[in-house]
Amino acid sequence: MLRSARHVAVLTGAGISAESGIPTFRDAMTGWWARYRPEDLATPEAFLRDPDLVWRWYRERRLKLPDVEPNPGHYALARLARKVPQLTLITQNVDGLHARAGSPEVVELHGNLSRVKCFARHHPVADFPDTEAVPACPTCGSPLRPDVVWFGELLPEAALRRAQAAARECDLFLSVGTSNLVEPAASLPWVAAQRGAPVLVVNPSTHGQRTGPGVHHLTGPAGRVLPELLQAAWPE
Ligand code: OAD
Repeated sequence: MLRSARHVAVLTGAGISAESGIPTFRDAMTGWWARYRPEDLATPEAFLRDPDLVWRWYRERRLKLPDVEPNPGHYALARLARKVPQLTLITQNVDGLHARAGSPEVVELHGNLSRVKCFARHHPVADFPDTEAVPACPTCGSPLRPDVVWFGELLPEAALRRAQAAARECDLFLSVGTSNLVEPAASLPWVAAQRGAPVLVVNPSTHGQRTGPGVHHLTGPAGRVLPELLQAAWPE
């Protein structure tokens, strides 16, 4: 399937960064949402209710990024971009690890933890005093916030359009490390499947994963399965 694919679309979730040491959201015990309530941290209402708490949680995650490395799963997808005629890499992750692994183009559906913007007018802010307390926007004075998508917010329009176009046009869809629970990303693999494009699901768990004709599960951690998949398709 990989060797004959013209356009491969890949959707990744927190699972591909798990082997880099970044917690997922819904893995029992270890996921972020097992220890915090999303509505307390990842919503505009949470930010308005307690901006310092939300700012601190994202700042703690942002400051850890330099110590985190891409893993073989990220590198395998960066290699895949050089093997197939067209690859659209779509991620729900905000950790920037795909770009650091060398993926030439990444469609970031949920934003990026390393970027901030102002809450009131979404002014992009290049450099900001990375203080514990929420800094103010140099342009309009409103509090700064992470440039990530919160529950209840719209996704960046251009990114979503590119992702949906890829799901409609691809002839192979890889879903890697996602619980497939959060829309509109969750529908992307099924848009491809409905058109008859095979869907390969890379995930140690099949829990909650849709099955059916044209859906193939490669059960295991992305850091092992993706390099094996590329090695099988293009033995070196
Ligand atoms: P989840 O935490 O919901 O799902 C992580 C998935 O990765 C699960 O299906 C795990 O089985 C799988 N997984 C765990 N370890 C893995 C590994 N080594 N290799 C491959 N898969 C592995 O994370 P997402 O599906 O990314 O959004 O969550 C989607 C969105 O919900 C996130 O972008 C975030 C979250 O709330 C917002 O915060 C808006």
